[in-house]
Amino acid sequence: MAVRSTPARRSGTSRSGARGRSRALANPLREGLRLEKVPEPCTVVLFGATGDLAHRRVLPALVNLRRAGLLPAESSVLGYARRPYTDETYRAEMAVAVADHSRLPIEPALWADFAAGIHYQQGDFTTPEAYRALADRLDRIDAARGTRGNRLFYLATPPSAYGPIVENLGRAGLDREQRRGGWARIVIEKPFGHDLESGRALNREVLRVFRESQVYRIDHYLGKETVRNILVFRFGNGIFEPVWNRRYIDHVQITVAEDLGMEGRGSFYEEAGATRDILQNHMLQLLSLVAMEPPIAFEADALRDEKLRVLRSVDPDWTAERVRRDVVRGQYGSGWVGGVHVAGYRDEPEVAADSETDTFVALRLEVQNWRWADVPFYLRTGKRLPKRTTEIAVQFKRPPLMLFRESTSDPEPNLLALRIQPDEGILLRFAAKVPELGLDVRSVNMDFTYGSSFSTEAPEAYETLILDAMLGDASLFTRADEVEAAWGIVSPIEELAAGATPGEELRVHPYEAGTWGPEAADRLIERDGRRWRRL
Ligand code: BG6
Repeated sequence: MAVRSTPARRSGTSRSGARGRSRALANPLREGLRLEKVPEPCTVVLFGATGDLAHRRVLPALVNLRRAGLLPAESSVLGYARRPYTDETYRAEMAVAVADHSRLPIEPALWADFAAGIHYQQGDFTTPEAYRALADRLDRIDAARGTRGNRLFYLATPPSAYGPIVENLGRAGLDREQRRGGWARIVIEKPFGHDLESGRALNREVLRVFRESQVYRIDHYLGKETVRNILVFRFGNGIFEPVWNRRYIDHVQITVAEDLGMEGRGSFYEEAGATRDILQNHMLQLLSLVAMEPPIAFEADALRDEKLRVLRSVDPDWTAERVRRDVVRGQYGSGWVGGVHVAGYRDEPEVAADSETDTFVALRLEVQNWRWADVPFYLRTGKRLPKRTTEIAVQFKRPPLMLFRESTSDPEPNLLALRIQPDEGILLRFAAKVPELGLDVRSVNMDFTYGSSFSTEAPEAYETLILDAMLGDASLFTRADEVEAAWGIVSPIEELAAGATPGEELRVHPYEAGTWGPEAADRLIERDGRRWRRL
């Protein structure tokens, strides 16, 4: 994993060192931070340059990296798409995109400097000649700007274009590194396939051209500061790991709740559903970070080996019977979210009136290894829930004996909640005596919030991930085998759901927008004598 801050030397006059010292005046926790590791200059070749992802995420992330001094001045962007733009029209469009979506304000002088490195190449994704023209253009940019033959191919396109782009990059020799002396890496956005078979096929297609070490599959959850902090929390502290196991933990709950509906993505979502859109990637990644063994080193393959072992230990007997019993799919109807009346899923644009797509999924999984055997992991995610919140709650067992019988209430068992977003932080619940005469015990919270402790805004996930790809650090990217292991968990759900007959458990259960999903999801956990956490 890229380490971007280390204790600074006490002396020294670097710009970042000075920045660190001035921040230190405001907050001692930030004393001595020194931004390090600036990547070599490169050209980011942005396929799908005129699309939503390029506008909202990629370009704003690049400019913010530049603003932070983490992108060398020679770095360039080459937008590639079908529209007949010129460099100038593309720059003008990107100026608007960055103004609308940048995390931090971009000064006109900084933009002017950055925009000078933005270029546009018109071309389609399937014509080999277009890639030869692309190769020539890249050589010219290298010569003009000093990008040294380093190329980051960024696929911000619909997934149907991945195959043709990769194949044509290979044909044009753009995958090769040694010939020109620079590096060539490819960034691919999810979805990585539609099921296990297509996930494997996509991996094969990509790996026919690129080596795994050149491939960076983005799961933007892994770039979130609080997700990265799960590892620091677990392995940078001595007191949690000894109790992080079946002996002390009763169960784990992972929630990824969204209040939004389709936001114009109906046709994409009809094909995906919550299971493919969130469970297959973001949630199973969260699960593997919480459940993994300590890696032998803080380095890409060591980390990914351990995450993979978790995914492979998930329920080896994930039979049809288990899937039917332990998975609940839901779909929102109309209702009220945040005081606004919203339409049901089937009334969203581009959604079939009789759609069976899941906008909610809850499930109970077990990680069958020595650390976790018999500890259930309950996962739930959905659209149009009451609020946007992502949290991992580790519920500890009760103490073996309750001594405080006089207490008028039984305190809840200890709980550790890792709040991923919003209001990022960590909460520990424990029992405390009420400061009154007598011996009453109540549950209280010890609450850490990033914002108030570090008084800073975390970088966007895309800034972190793009920078890491440029640095050649793949720790926060999913490896081919992880993707396939995740499909191994999800595909049986999708297969059974597709064949489910009316009235069967795996059919979508309706729920009212603005609620926490269908009642069947409550039954799933209540069956075990537990409850979903109220968030
Ligand atoms: C994306 C999904 O991967 O993640 C979206 O395709 C979802 O449907 C989004 O809304 C959630 O991301 P975040 O960062 O807002 O939690």
